[in-house]
Amino acid sequence: MQRVIEEMVKLRVGLSSEAQKMAEGLGGGKMLRAKLLLHIAPHHPLSPRIAAIIEFIHAASLLHDDVIDEARLRRGLPSVNALYGNKSAVMLGDILYSQAYSALAEHDPFLITTIAKAVVALSEGELADVRLSQEYHEDESAYMAMIEGKTAALIEATAVCGAFLAGLPIEPFALYGRNLGLAFQIVDDLLDVTQDEATLGKPAMGDLAEGKMTLPYLIMVQKLDDNEKVRFRALHSRALDQTEASWIKEIMLSRGVIDETTARIRWLGQQAMEALANAKIDDSLMAQLQKIMDAMTQREF
Ligand code: FPP
Ligand code: MG
Repeated sequence: MQRVIEEMVKLRVGLSSEAQKMAEGLGGGKMLRAKLLLHIAPHHPLSPRIAAIIEFIHAASLLHDDVIDEARLRRGLPSVNALYGNKSAVMLGDILYSQAYSALAEHDPFLITTIAKAVVALSEGELADVRLSQEYHEDESAYMAMIEGKTAALIEATAVCGAFLAGLPIEPFALYGRNLGLAFQIVDDLLDVTQDEATLGKPAMGDLAEGKMTLPYLIMVQKLDDNEKVRFRALHSRALDQTEASWIKEIMLSRGVIDETTARIRWLGQQAMEALANAKIDDSLMAQLQKIMDAMTQREF
């Protein structure tokens, strides 16, 4: 990972001192995308550079996402929009994104197109997230399509770029990446309900307050009677007090919502590994990709 961090520093050096200062607190995340690419194509000399470019794009998308979600915290620290305001955060996102693109333009058209298409999909996914958050809904397929864009597209593109650099078959890695990305977002959505603010590094149960009907809530509403549903709908899109939050958590635990969500995550993990199994990937890479899946799906924050 050191090589990826060095490449990220190189990308940052090209920016103005103002942008560099604002970008100081960024990074320090899980760097899932970089790890994934390095595991798939560990020996290719371009892997750290492409991984750094993808992490820059991811960071840009989070800067914009925190403005959209009005988030004050990111990874336990004040978000860039909280520190410098929305206008500066949007512009820093544009700067990181454009810097990543100018670096990417030096590389193979396959890599450029794969990543560019993923950014279109992630932006479309975020647009759908905004639309879906504006009203209460119970549409699971709309939620799945939205997270496939918002989160899975860039993770899928990362796996595809890795396979391309390593000379491995593209399609199984695309499927692995897509299912890893879907599982990753559902874990994120589950942790939002089950963990506290100190563990998450952002307010707990923030999704419902932001109007987001994530998978745990979509499964939960199917288990409510008419009266409970009226009570639940009144909690949508607003901050919850302790009693309301406990009521939701109690239902999620006692009616198997957490278990069903976890089972869905596990199923996506299996789908991902099966896609690779059919392509006869060598054993040590299979073991590493299983480890990434386990780390991402069994995490606590
Ligand atoms: C986090 O979702 C958001 C994303 C994974 C993608 C956001 C994408 C954009 C804003 C499109 C713009 C992209 C570029 C490159 C300019 P979340 O809000 O569910 O997660 P969180 O709880 O970590 O905020
Ligand atoms: Mg957000």
